[in-house]
Amino acid sequence: MKLHVSGDVAVPGDKSLTHRALMFAAAAEGESRLRGLLPGEDCQSTASVLRALGCSVPVLPADGSEIRVAGRGIGAWAEPSGALDCGNSGTTSRLMMGLLASRPFRATLTGDESLRGRPMRRITDPLAAMGARFREQGAPDRLPIEIIGGPLRALDYRSPKASAQIKSAVLLGGLGAGVAVSVTEPALSRDHTERMLVALGERVDTAETDDGVHIRLAPSGRALPPLDLAVPGDPSSAAFLVALALLADAGELRIRNVCVNPTRTGFFRLVERMGAAIRQENERVEGGEPVADLLVAPARLRGIAVGGAEVPAAIDEIPMLAVLAARAEGETRITGAGELRVKETDRIAALAQNLRAIGADAEELEDGIVVRGSDRPLRGGIRAFHDHRIAMAFGVLGMRPENDIQVDDRAVVDVSFPGFWGMLERLSGRHGPG
Ligand code: S3P
Repeated sequence: MKLHVSGDVAVPGDKSLTHRALMFAAAAEGESRLRGLLPGEDCQSTASVLRALGCSVPVLPADGSEIRVAGRGIGAWAEPSGALDCGNSGTTSRLMMGLLASRPFRATLTGDESLRGRPMRRITDPLAAMGARFREQGAPDRLPIEIIGGPLRALDYRSPKASAQIKSAVLLGGLGAGVAVSVTEPALSRDHTERMLVALGERVDTAETDDGVHIRLAPSGRALPPLDLAVPGDPSSAAFLVALALLADAGELRIRNVCVNPTRTGFFRLVERMGAAIRQENERVEGGEPVADLLVAPARLRGIAVGGAEVPAAIDEIPMLAVLAARAEGETRITGAGELRVKETDRIAALAQNLRAIGADAEELEDGIVVRGSDRPLRGGIRAFHDHRIAMAFGVLGMRPENDIQVDDRAVVDVSFPGFWGMLERLSGRHGPG
């Protein structure tokens, strides 16, 4: 049996942009119009946290149709009556910490078991240096955390990591408090917050220096205007479909309307280095973000070495890359990716354990993984560890006819890609794993 993957599809809206669009719309004065929002569980967490602060955010429609958010300014946000549940969403918790740091009230952020296991001092430390106060209510460095907001002072922060969540929390803290902030990060992490601020009339200066990338915001002090925004498709979701098309024996897949911001497209560059050809068509700019259709066909992939500054722009796609490497010729060595250990699960451990469980050759490194590819059938059950991207990466590999892979928790994909399994099955004309 051959795997034939062809079609013309669109992936759901970008998760990072959806979080930011909702937060900015709730902080703006006036009625925002937002289209193409991701209705995934993570973004629903952002919407419900904003509602608990008194913002009128409608239900996120399943088909991405337009919603209107009537913003009354961040000054109208009200003290919540209970804990704010961020579910599985690190971005909700960390960006909201930045916005709440300047509010003159107390708010407690919490989340599900996976999120309560993730480090938070990386966010609370710089915000505390600006003057916000935090009370950890459970384990050190973990949610639930009470934020006692108030006036903040300016900060020049040197971030130890290329992390958009750290950078955004500081920028949003500065925006809410009306004080200048700067962040220097070792490499440029996704820059959606900066782009959206610029689109809303704020000035953000970014400069590459010898000791990293320097990002500075001096808030104008003006009220944020409402947004009129169409969120493009999520390149992190598109990456799974690109991988499926690459693994196929025949066909060609078009994925429409994908955000191709260079801070997000590291995976596409890396698979090209492995031997893939990805064409971009209909290139345009929407809402300050580059957008294009992607065309991809089957390819014979070779192993590569990945590390250093290449990692941030592919950080969420490393699970798919490592799983693809099991079908590439030779060795793929991924290093400098220690941040994967503190994502929705320890992704390095999860990848190594699951690859071995299906008979692939994988070796765990402290800050990455080595995978040696082969053509032999890969069979067995994998554990998603409550991580949407682990489930999807192995789901794609399971579509190869010679493989037989069962995923223990298929529902977890709803965090970022509702409809994933149906699309996978439709595109490959074969029933999915598990
Ligand atoms: C995100 C930033 C990334 C990424 C996450 C979404 C964002 O985390 O892994 O899925 O929207 O800002 P870090 O910035 O902590 O690497």
